[in-house]
This record gives sequence, structure tokens and C-alpha cells, in this order.
Amino acid sequence: MESSPDIGNLQAILLVGGQGTRLRPLTLGTPKPLLPTAGVPFLAHQLARAKAFGVERIVFATSYRASMFTEAFGDGSSFGLRLEYMTEETPLGTGGAIRNAAQALTCGPDDPVLVLNGDILSGHDIRAQVALHMSRGAAVTLHLTEVEDPSRFGCVPTDPDGRVTAFLEKTPYPVTNRINAGCYVFRRSVIDTIPENQVVSVERETFPGLIAAGELVLGYIDTAYWLDVGTPTAYIKGSRDLVLGRLHSPAMPGPCGEHLALPDSIVSPDAKVSGGSVVGHGAIVESGATVTGSILLDNCVIGPGATVVDSVVGPGARVEGGAVLSDVVVGDGAVVGSGNELLAGARLWPGVVLPESAVRFSSDV
Ligand code: GDD
Ligand code: MG
Repeated sequence: MESSPDIGNLQAILLVGGQGTRLRPLTLGTPKPLLPTAGVPFLAHQLARAKAFGVERIVFATSYRASMFTEAFGDGSSFGLRLEYMTEETPLGTGGAIRNAAQALTCGPDDPVLVLNGDILSGHDIRAQVALHMSRGAAVTLHLTEVEDPSRFGCVPTDPDGRVTAFLEKTPYPVTNRINAGCYVFRRSVIDTIPENQVVSVERETFPGLIAAGELVLGYIDTAYWLDVGTPTAYIKGSRDLVLGRLHSPAMPGPCGEHLALPDSIVSPDAKVSGGSVVGHGAIVESGATVTGSILLDNCVIGPGATVVDSVVGPGARVEGGAVLSDVVVGDGAVVGSGNELLAGARLWPGVVLPESAVRFSSDV
């Protein structure tokens, strides 16, 4: 008789040891998974969703700025979860991190273990993924999604039965648009075969090795909302989509809508804040300013008549009157003087002061 999938007491490992280099300067002081997203640390959304799907205990695999995770989430009781922390002195890669964190698991060798990349927003049904894994008796079951540019991800072809036939990490020659979505179900005993205390990549070593050895590596394919928030553009989009309600998160600190204003923020009645923007604690948006699809972090100030589109303004930073920002990251405490126009991809490092612009546009005269 086929055993019915029972995922009660499901345990998980959350990979959060990366440096988040593509998100600098935002990640110079804060690890990527802790960046404020729709008003709460990014991971709060992942934790709340995991809890909603029956996960009870999560082991954080930390390395970069490890203590900040403990400070932010403690024992997890505020999420109704039990949290543990396993820290790598030097980063062990995704596979080494999973092996190291598995020491804190309390489940048996045949039990399923959920493994999550710590920078993913996903609407997929974790319970259905675990159920597929168990009903097929797979070694590992990978959540797969489709993207336009698979070369930036792990490209994962499957056969008609959903069996993974190859794992091609960041290949310039992708064979399908189907990619690794960064959420795995491992049979616990498979994790125990990863070498201990060594740098190992699951994407480049473990998965290709299991496939070559003939183990059953399965794809759980779906088309639910999915986003890797590893770049500024994606991070802003993730926050915006949560605020607009395009992805439901039990961790949202307020109602969904055109913008989310956190307690102690001030938005002038003459300002227009829309497109899923967040106005952080103590942040001020002055008269005539326009803020669209952006993240304003705590205590920043957007001056009168300034325009901020698809951008992040760091804690305590100032965008002075009439400045224009589009697709820009302003680091902590930096100042954009009035009259400046910063466009596509500009990054201002923390504390930098950009003086008032001497350039005037003909429309200003
Ligand atoms: N503990 C620990 N130690 N965690 C790590 C380490 C490490 O040495 N290296 C990376 N991580 C964590 C990161 O913090 C992140 O949560 C996760 O592992 C994945 O690392 P990223 O740096 O975000 O990888 P990626 O986005 O380039 O690619 C990965 O995710 C894609 C989906 O978004 C791969 O798994 C791809 O195959 C996948 O398509
Ligand atoms: Mg990533």
C-alpha cells in the first residue's frame, strides 16, 4: 500500500549566508534576507508562508553577519515557529551549509527536509511539493519555474515524468526556460551524503552527482508568483508586489493598497505616493513630491516637489527639493541635493553628499 504523505512536523533549512553583493550598498550593513520589504524584514514573509504550509522548525544556515539573524528573529515564537541557528565560520557554499545545518535537525533518515534559498518570494504550494516528493519516493524534489532569461539561474530540463535529466547552473547555453526556483525537498539521508566541513555547491556538485548516479531527482513544476530578490530592481519589485497584493503574505504589517505608510511616517496631503511604495517609520514625504513604486526606508526625507520612481532611499537619507530619481539606490544617510537628476542604475554609497546641481534644465528657467 502506498504510504499517504504526512508532512506534520516538517523541518526546514533556510540558506541565508550569502553576502548579497548585487544589492550593495544596501547589504553593506544588513544581510539581504533582513532588508525591509513591504515594511518588515524580507525573511518575515518567507517564515510566515512556511508556517502556513505546516513547517514547524527551521534551522538558519548563517555566515555573513550571523548575529543579526538571531537579533531579528530569536527563538521564532512570535511566528509560532521554533528557530535554530547554525553558523559557518567561513562560508561553505550551499551544499556545505545544508550539511552543516542538518546537524540541528531532529527528524529520521527517510523524512523529508525542506531547504529554502533565503531570497525568494514564492506563491507555490509547498505542501503539494512535499506530497509529490513523498508519493514518488524521490531523493530530492526541486521546485521549478519558468523565466525569460534562464542563463542567470540553474537551468533544469525534465523528462515527461517530471524526472530531472540535467542541472546546468548559470549556463550561457540554456536548453529550457525552466529553472531551479530555490526550494528543495531532500530525503534526510541524502543530505548526510554531502561531504562535511567542505565547500560544496548543491547546484554544481550535489544535484549533477545525484542525477549521474541514477538517483530520482524530481521537478515540481508550477507557474505561481515567483521572484529572486537578489538585485535592486527585483528587491523593489518584490516589495511593491507585496504592497499591491500581487502576492499574499501573512506577514504584511498593514492593508494592501497603493502605498504602505508605517507608523510615525508623515506624507504631505499634497504629495502623491503610489504604485506599491512603502514609507518607512519616521520617514517624511513633503509637499508636491511624487513617489512611485519605491521603498523609502526609516527616517529618510523626500523634499518638496522631488520625484522618486522605482528606487530605494536608505535610512536617514535626504532627497532634496526638486531632485529626480529613477531606478536609483541611495545609501544610508546620503544626500541628493536639489536639482539633481539620477537615472537608471545610479548607486549612492552611504553618507555621500551630492551637492545641489548647478545644471538647470530649460524647463526650469
Ligand atoms: N549559509 C550559506 N553559506 N548560505 C549561502 C552560501 C554559503 O556559503 N552561499 C549562498 N548562500 C545562500 C544565499 O544567502 C541565498 O539565500 C542562497 O544561498 C542562494 O544564493 P544566491 O547567491 O542568491 O544564488 P543565486 O540567486 O545566484 O542562484 C541560486 O538561486 C537561483 C534561484 O533564485 C541557485 O540556487 C540557482 O540554481 C537558482 O536558479
Ligand atoms: Mg538568489
